Order: sequence, then C-alpha cells, then structure tokens
Amino acid sequence: MIDNKNILLGVSGGIACYKTLELCSRLVKKNVNIKVIMTESAKEFVRPVTFETMAKGLVYSDMWEGHHEEVHHIELPKWADLMLIAPASASTIGKMANGIADNFLIASYLACQKDVIIAPSMNTQMLLNPATQRNLQTLREYGVKVIAPESGVLACNTVGDGRMEEPKNIVKYLEDYFTDKDLVGKKIIVSAGPTIEPIDYVRYITNHSSGKMGYNIANEAKKRGADVILVSGPVNPFEINGINKIEVKTNEEMKNAIEENFDDANALIMAAAPVDYRPSTVSDRKIKKSGESINFEFIENLDILKYFGSKKKDQTIIGFAAETDDLIENANKKLNVKNADYIVANDLKKEGAGFNTDTNVASFISKDGVKDLEIMSKKELANEILNLIR
Ligand code: PMT
Repeated sequence: MIDNKNILLGVSGGIACYKTLELCSRLVKKNVNIKVIMTESAKEFVRPVTFETMAKGLVYSDMWEGHHEEVHHIELPKWADLMLIAPASASTIGKMANGIADNFLIASYLACQKDVIIAPSMNTQMLLNPATQRNLQTLREYGVKVIAPESGVLACNTVGDGRMEEPKNIVKYLEDYFTDKDLVGKKIIVSAGPTIEPIDYVRYITNHSSGKMGYNIANEAKKRGADVILVSGPVNPFEINGINKIEVKTNEEMKNAIEENFDDANALIMAAAPVDYRPSTVSDRKIKKSGESINFEFIENLDILKYFGSKKKDQTIIGFAAETDDLIENANKKLNVKNADYIVANDLKKEGAGFNTDTNVASFISKDGVKDLEIMSKKELANEILNLIR
C-alpha cells in the first residue's frame, strides 16, 4: 500500500512542473510523505513555496545549505522508500545517465540506493534525439523505471510524444509499484455485475448490480500480480488495466465463459449477481400492448456457483450471499449447498452495503465459522477477499 510511504520527489525544469503540483496534492491525500528537491530551472517555472505548501514540507535545492545538521543529499535518499523525478527534463536525464552531479537533485540520485522512477517531459524532437534515447536506454539498463511520456499537444504548440504522464496515472503507477505481488502465478476468475435474461426483442429482466464489487476484486488481484479473467455482465464502463475481460449478457454466457477458464484456475470469485430465473419462452419480436394483463412463466437458471462448486479440484471457490433476511443462516446454507470455501455475506438492507455502493459491510462464512468485518470500501474488501485465496 502507498499509505505512509516516503517519496523523494525530484522536480526538474519543464512546463510540466505545474502537473507535478497536482501529483503532490494527490499523493498527500493518500497519506504519502513527500520531500521535494527542485533544480534551479524548475524554480523558474514554479516557486518553491508552492511545492512547500502542496507537499507540506521544506523544498531542497541548494547543495551548500544546512550542512551543519546533516548531509542532505545523502540523508534524503536514505529516508525515502522511492525516488521519483517528475518531470524529468532532457538535461536531467542526460546528467543521470552520465553521473554528472552538478546539482542537488543529481547528487541525491547518485547517492540513492532505493528504486528510482522518472516521468520524462520534453518536446518531441528532444525526446526523439538519439542522445536522449541513448540516455533513457542507459537509465533503463541501470534499473531506473521510466513512465513513458504520452502523446498530445505540447507547450511549444506542436503535437507529438513528450507530455509528462497525467498525475492520476502516475499515482496509479506508484500504487501498483507499492502493492505486494503475492498473487503472481495465480489465475483468478472473477465474475461481476448482473446478468440479463431477455423477455422479447426489446425487454429483459435483470437486477441492480453495478459491478463495483467484482471490478474492485479484479483490479486489486491484478495489482497483486494475478492473471485475472474478469467475466462481466452489462455494467457502466470501469477502468481496468491488463485484465482479460469477457463480456457476457445471460447466465448461460457467464457459465460458458467461466467454464473455458476454470480447469487451470486457482480461484473463482463469484461477485456477480446472476439472474435466478428466465422466461420459459422468448419472443423474437416486440410483444405489443393488448390492454390486458400479461403472464410469463419463468424457469430456474443454472446456479453457476453450485455448478463449479461440484466440479472443483484445487480451486478456492468464493461465493457471495446477497440477502435481505437471515443473512448468516442463509449464507451458511449457500456455503454447504454450493460447496464453496467461503461465502462473503452482505446484508442488502444495511447502510453502506450491497448494490452500487462504494462501501460494503460483509461477513466471511467458512467451515471455521463467521468473521464479521467493519464497513470498508469495496477496494479494501476486495483485498480482504483476495487474502482468502490459498
Ligand atoms: O455489483 P455491486 O453493485 O457492487 O453489488 C455487489 C453485490 C451486492 C452484487 C455483491 O456484493 C454480491 O452480493 N454478489 C452476489 C449477488 C447474488 O447473486 O447473491 P445470491 O445470494 O443470490 O447468490 C449467491 C451466490 O451464488 C453468489 O456468489 C452468486 O454469484 C451465485 N449465483 C447466484 C445465482 C445463480 N443463478 N448463479 C450463481 O452462481
């Protein structure tokens, strides 16, 4: 987790310095401790006092100041869990690659034994110049991680590669960097969202599942290094990175998508809310209004969780129970009938739990008993659920 990490933030000269202020603010909101080093050029773009305010601490830039207390360019890297240089200008990248410690930032970089990440920012031609490309390659070979600049309109009114990556994406990169990769080598299938069952050419039945619970599980599993297969019913778009997503509509499609991936999976997490019943017949045209009431016969759908519970070998199977009454009793029944290892029971009537909320209140039910959890974000609950995987 990024919470309470120490980041030594180097800021070199470039118009993207203004974006680094937003980056600072986003990191501070996530309880990251930041110490800032600015080059003299960076101070031409943004005054140190602005960074001091955003990062809530002193800005360092003078090699010759305050050495009676400690040698700052040696002590700051020791304090840091990570050094991030954003923006990294062509000149700073060149000095890093060649060990030219003629300013406080590069001296600190050379003294740094922690990982270093850079977010380059410069004009396209400067970026494409063979000298810059060679310097970037050298840094990669030294183990420096490079957050590739993106393409767009640049400050020099040209369009091309060279824009520093957006602060929100740099934060994501850092969150990913600080996440323990304890699920590497595990293939995890996560189902999310509702299914739908058609009634006629235009109508269908479904439920209120937004997919938030399932998508959070998939995203957190991916961050922790798992190979994630996300089987998603129809939901509003969510951001996902590097996840193999299979979009489905009906129960049958959801079951088939899981089946294709189940045999070599390590875990199945059924956070989806599949529809329990479907109409016995589906009209291939729009049913017209007749001025009279209408009856439909519904037949029961396959219980997907139960089906895979009966087929499981070494997989950890985690189901949910969405209940309005007798939560624990019903969840216990589901644990046994569906042959799951765990049931995550959520009470749909509880404040902050259930459909379309950003939080959930859950209890883990297993053969070992019941573990009640506090209200927490669906992201936090996702990580608690992933901790259950063997
Ligand atoms: O998507 P969100 O808006 O974030 O909401 C989250 C959630 C409430 C949908 C989620 O937390 C949740 O509880 N998902 C399970 C919903 C559900 O279908 O519960 P159930 O008690 O009816 O089913 C029990 C288990 O069997 C579930 O794991 C379900 O995925 C599975 N099931 C149900 C019916 C069916 N035909 N096949 C199944 O596999």
